[in-house]
Amino acid sequence: MTIQAIAFDAYGTLFDVYSISQLADKYFPRRGNELAQLWRSKQIEYTQLRTMCSMYKPFWEVTQDALVFVCKKMALSLSLDAQNALMGQYARLDAFPENLGALQALRTAGYKLSILSNGTTPMLQSAVDAAGMQGLFSHLISVETVNKYKTAPEAYQLGPDVFGVPAKNILFVSSNGWDVCCATWFGYTTFWVNRADAPLEELGVTPHGIGRSLSDVVAFVSQYHS
Ligand code: LAC
Repeated sequence: MTIQAIAFDAYGTLFDVYSISQLADKYFPRRGNELAQLWRSKQIEYTQLRTMCSMYKPFWEVTQDALVFVCKKMALSLSLDAQNALMGQYARLDAFPENLGALQALRTAGYKLSILSNGTTPMLQSAVDAAGMQGLFSHLISVETVNKYKTAPEAYQLGPDVFGVPAKNILFVSSNGWDVCCATWFGYTTFWVNRADAPLEELGVTPHGIGRSLSDVVAFVSQYHS
């Protein structure tokens, strides 16, 4: 079997969603880390609820809704200034340091690279530009075209549709345990970048490869060379 293309999850995999805690600390001293963690979980929960109930709304708005909710829950007064600054930072999150080198190595090895994300196209373009990743991806694939978030099959189907090859010939890479498990169920060849050293989800499915950083993808994919 050959891998003909690679699809990366964006948030948590390429871009560090917890890097926002430093900026959050400026507005809410010593609460930044907690805010970043709760914000991320609430954001994902809202994508799942909206998909289950067919109530799609773009990821930028869902992200903002999650921020507003979490601040209320943490009894933090979210000024318009803080909201704009935190959301603005979300559009240009830090990329993980090894990413650029790993992506360039995969390109040099001949793989077509893409992002397959819940993010809107403008969010993905902005994050890619801020990280200096211009020109590395042949496609920025946003679930906005199907109005459903991962883990809906329609969202995962975008990869095979865009590349015109079966999911098993696409390597799907995510740091999110839930995402990588559901992509495996869908039929992708999968790699879990387990950055947080988290336990595998108890879903009865195992990704094809597991590592700690994006650099581990380079070694993993070489075994699929035809
Ligand atoms: C994404 C989120 C789920 O990029 O991390 O799709």
